[in-house]
Amino acid sequence: MNSLEVSLLCFLLSIIFIPNFTASQILFQGFNWESAKKGGWYNILKQSAAELASSGITHVWLPPPSHAISDEGYMPGRLYDLASKYGSQDELKALVKTYHDNGIQSIADIVINHRCAEKKDERGIWCIFEGGTPDDRLDWGPSLICSDDTKYSDGKGNPDTGADFGGAPDIDHKNSRVQNELSDWMNWLKTEIGFSGWRFDFVKGYAPEFTKLYVANTKPSFSVGELWNSLAYESDGKPKYNQDNHRNELAGWIGNAGGEVTAFDFTTKGILQAAVQGELGRLKDSNGGPPGLIGISPRNSVTFIDNHDTGSTQKLWPFPSDEVIQGYAYILTHPGIPSIFYDHFFDWRLKEQISNLTVIRSRNGIKPDSVVRILAADPDVYVASIDDKIIMKIGMRFDVSEFVPPTTFKIATSGMSYCVWEKTA
Ligand SMILES: *[C@@H]1O[C@H](CO)[C@@H](O)[C@H](O)[C@H]1NC(C)=O
Repeated sequence: MNSLEVSLLCFLLSIIFIPNFTASQILFQGFNWESAKKGGWYNILKQSAAELASSGITHVWLPPPSHAISDEGYMPGRLYDLASKYGSQDELKALVKTYHDNGIQSIADIVINHRCAEKKDERGIWCIFEGGTPDDRLDWGPSLICSDDTKYSDGKGNPDTGADFGGAPDIDHKNSRVQNELSDWMNWLKTEIGFSGWRFDFVKGYAPEFTKLYVANTKPSFSVGELWNSLAYESDGKPKYNQDNHRNELAGWIGNAGGEVTAFDFTTKGILQAAVQGELGRLKDSNGGPPGLIGISPRNSVTFIDNHDTGSTQKLWPFPSDEVIQGYAYILTHPGIPSIFYDHFFDWRLKEQISNLTVIRSRNGIKPDSVVRILAADPDVYVASIDDKIIMKIGMRFDVSEFVPPTTFKIATSGMSYCVWEKTA
């Protein structure tokens, strides 16, 4: 080979073998609490695949795919029956393929803490499982239900390893048949439908070692758990300043679940939504870093502003609606894997501002473990530099007297109470 051939070969090898470590991952939640009522949700979502891709979204979290007792899918029954209020199996498959063609991975919402049965018993309780499949798969009886879940099922299995879910029988994840049949089902979702990863619902309901097992058995390219514990509050109703316990619980769960899985950063959400109400000083912890899970375990943090439970029509713990864009200015510039909620992007007309922020994130190679330097954290202003490539500000104060951006930085985007500067060349 001559030197030209060698350099050409090196170039080709570098394209093929350098993993895409620098690519920003951005998750999009592709539904809200009302989506099941829309009729044909999968077909509706399919329309926006190209738009999501051009906004830098790499993963879309889809609603629970299986037949369920409740419209939204969180009371699943026949797991292999993918006809749901969101659409048919074929429509789901077509959606996942369209996403794939646009470079977007699909994440399935895995609801496995509990399961609703086919038939009611004489007390009117859904606890008789009959899968009706020729090979008996998922035909689970009382021996696969937790023994302390007597309210619903008179279970004869092991005691529950996590919190009880009141609405349906809690499944005994210590049972190897449950482990094998759930792993088979998840692997089928990968091969038959094309899912790439998992969003584990209500992981409080079973021990983290089982999440670790299902991850090991199914090898998702991405997975995230919903561990939603309440923050501690002061007597005046405000979250406590020191939230280390809350984020340490998340970090502990991640470790016990194998260390590969990520968790929704409920700590950042709670602190951020208090902070944007005139208490931006909360955004600096006692070590000088971000106060949420991103401050201690950024690579395993999925940051978010609201989801189908906290926001949407349920509003169980909503972000202050006027400050949502400040929330995105924070999570889309900071470490962690940021996620964007359907409602904010499409219904709240924030698409352009959010997309401008994601473009800046990608262009500057901001990663889950990027380095934050907090330059100011006062009640009315928060300024941080990320990887020394971008500087961001949120808060009402316009004269940021503590901070004048170096002349090598220019404004990349700005809006009501936020601004992001970018380093020039
Ligand atoms: C978003 O970016 C586009 C293109 O640079 C620009 O024209 C537009 O004004 C920006 N919008 C906002 C809200 O920053």
